[in-house]
Amino acid sequence: MNIGVLRELEPGERRVAATPESVRQLAGAGLSVTVEAGAGAAAGYPDAEYSEAGASIAESIPLEAIEVLAHVRPLRPELAASLKAGSITVGLGSPASSLPTVEALRSAGVTSFALELVPRISRAQSMDALTSQALVAGYRCVLEAAMRLPRFFPLFMTAAGTIPPAKVLVLGAGVAGLQAIATAKRLGARVSANDVREASADEVRSMGGTFISLDLGTADAAGGYAKELAEDRAARQRELLTPHVSDSDIVITTAAIPGRAAPRLVTAEMLQGMRPGSVVIDLAAETGGNVEGSIAGVDTRVTLPGGGEITIVGMKDVASTMPYDASRLYAKNVANLVTLMTQEGAVQPDFDDEIVAGACLTHAGEVRHAPTREALDVAEPAATKGAS
Ligand code: NAI
Repeated sequence: MNIGVLRELEPGERRVAATPESVRQLAGAGLSVTVEAGAGAAAGYPDAEYSEAGASIAESIPLEAIEVLAHVRPLRPELAASLKAGSITVGLGSPASSLPTVEALRSAGVTSFALELVPRISRAQSMDALTSQALVAGYRCVLEAAMRLPRFFPLFMTAAGTIPPAKVLVLGAGVAGLQAIATAKRLGARVSANDVREASADEVRSMGGTFISLDLGTADAAGGYAKELAEDRAARQRELLTPHVSDSDIVITTAAIPGRAAPRLVTAEMLQGMRPGSVVIDLAAETGGNVEGSIAGVDTRVTLPGGGEITIVGMKDVASTMPYDASRLYAKNVANLVTLMTQEGAVQPDFDDEIVAGACLTHAGEVRHAPTREALDVAEPAATKGAS
């Protein structure tokens, strides 16, 4: 069976869904790969390396010929509608914000898998693209902060005097936040962090950060995620965080609640106590913003009451800014899911496998993911009726 890899269409997207390394893995499972010419160029993978790995390069791949399509960004509805019935897609589906695409996949009879839906169980870790891309984002946030901060990160003891290390505060210590802590520590900063999940205190400490305990109680939801705080607890959290924000040179926010707008952790008022030159990085800028005033893709300068400015950086398309390694991890996630579903050189999803069933968005004219089905108001498929 053949896997098609197209050039990504979204402006600014530099990642690619297969790398020469993942082509070799897919070939090992008995699959062939066709790569559209130039698909990996922006990520740093030239056509010649794909050919060397055994892929065919095509100037264009007719959509109706594709058996399995590996992609990064959610497909455009018109592309999804042109795929042949029974074909399979694997990539980011972003179902909540891509309903027209889901509907196009459903009505075209495409079996689509959304990597965001891969269950967070240990067996599926190697297919978890949210984790792999969050790792890239957490790392990149720190570099963006370091490049804007008019100070050093590490402690310097020089003949001309001692320079203390920068203080970094990380709010939201999930995959991205923990990677931000680790990266800031490697650069020599003093790092503290807060999160609302019970396990987060130990996780922060294991990365070398100081956990800020706010005495708010924990807020764990299923699947390792956090629950949204009620407004009074959220307000108390902001109040208790205010002195920590004022005391930091860099604040990095990464807090998220699945399916909800990002929680507001830092208000404009809280920023007023920061020192001039401080930098605030909002990784959640694209999903509502953890920081009041952040705009995705934009640096916003805020004037302080005593003079001077701070910079709020609204992060956007972060994983795409490190396309080589982001693609390397992402392509591995895709190849691992595809090979899990492959028997004797054919991709044949086994829906008794909880990873396969969990990651499936559409199949045989039905929307398999319940929240998306509800959002689309599509009839519940017979196969899942009665299932919890
Ligand atoms: P995420 O992207 O949904 O959220 C990021 C972080 O924001 C989370 O740590 C969450 O607790 C935090 N947060 C939410 N509201 C907050 C608030 N009001 N204040 C402070 N922090 C807040 O989550 P992510 O990073 O994708 O995963 C979270 C955790 O899930 C991981 O740290 C890990 O423990 C677990 N996980 C398990 C996996 C597995 O078993 N296969 C794979 C990946 C993650």
